[in-house]
Amino acid sequence: MSDQSVFDVDVWTLTRFVTETGRQAKGATGELTQLINCLLTAIKAISSAVRKAGLVHLQGIAGQVNVTGDEQKKLDVLSNDLIINMLQASYGTCLMVSEENKDAIYTPAEKRGKYVVCFDPLDGSSNIDCLAPIGTIFAIYKRTSEGEPTDQDALQPGNQIVCAGYALYGSATLVALSTGAGVNFFMLDPAIGEFILTDRNVKIKKKGKTYSINEGYAKYFEPAVNEYLKHKKYPEDGSAPYGARYVGSMVSDIHRTIAYGGIFMYPANEKSPKGKLRLLYECNPIAFLIEQAGGIATSGTQRVLDVIPDSLHQRLPFVVGSPDDVEEYLSFVKKHKK
Ligand code: AHM
Ligand code: MG
Repeated sequence: MSDQSVFDVDVWTLTRFVTETGRQAKGATGELTQLINCLLTAIKAISSAVRKAGLVHLQGIAGQVNVTGDEQKKLDVLSNDLIINMLQASYGTCLMVSEENKDAIYTPAEKRGKYVVCFDPLDGSSNIDCLAPIGTIFAIYKRTSEGEPTDQDALQPGNQIVCAGYALYGSATLVALSTGAGVNFFMLDPAIGEFILTDRNVKIKKKGKTYSINEGYAKYFEPAVNEYLKHKKYPEDGSAPYGARYVGSMVSDIHRTIAYGGIFMYPANEKSPKGKLRLLYECNPIAFLIEQAGGIATSGTQRVLDVIPDSLHQRLPFVVGSPDDVEEYLSFVKKHKK
């Protein structure tokens, strides 16, 4: 066996991919490339911290409560700090919105660039202590105003996203990234500390075989949701019932949905009339990736990416996945509207 068959000597790392994409973009200055590379460094550091969490006592409650009322864990704090510091060090951002910060974070004037980044540093944090997969989610926008940046710069609809992605800290660490020309998957090779391109231009199946929802809330769901779920479990057309899968870490549930097909749902319910997931840094980046992979992302009444945000931490009912599955769900919504 020659060396070449063991080692790829012309390997496509994520850094190379981002650099190449940046070079090809008309009028590009390299600012976005630099920003993404700094973000990737933070993601690698988070991945390392997640892997060591049990050994160095990074798990457990940090004793603070974040803006949305969840208990904040030490790993959340560390991940948040890492991303903020690395993004500011990139000289590419002017404004950030993080799930962990009530207010928008303004980059000091001397380090400012033209991008706005909305992120959830460690999503699925209730899964930290049981070692289930968790993830980082991000969306990058270009600011639209001039002069001093304001919160308004972050209140852009998802259809303005320049780049979005997630990192999944699962059995391996993976980054899914899209700059608007399809979705690519990159796997972290710990030996060289680089993300390697493993799946190019990923497409979601037209129809899947699983549904993913916290069905424990069935008592509080709208009739359309329960009727749809019943249809998945007791199909009347002779087809097999769908399998149920729900990790409770959105990145994990979404990654499975993109990889295998199916539907992921966090609809509104009586207790959470606007759903739970946050538009700016949870729904929008995932909706962007799902659409780029050929799927559909809806609030039940509207395309997610067309929702005009009115506040930094607003929530949105969220249903995404294979086009046939989401269309089928929407047909139940429509039926109940009549
Ligand atoms: P978090 O940002 O506090 O971690 O909450 C978001 C998570 C998602 O990853 C997941 O889809 C959802 O909350 C699960 O919520 P529930 O426990 O209500 O099913
Ligand atoms: Mg979250």
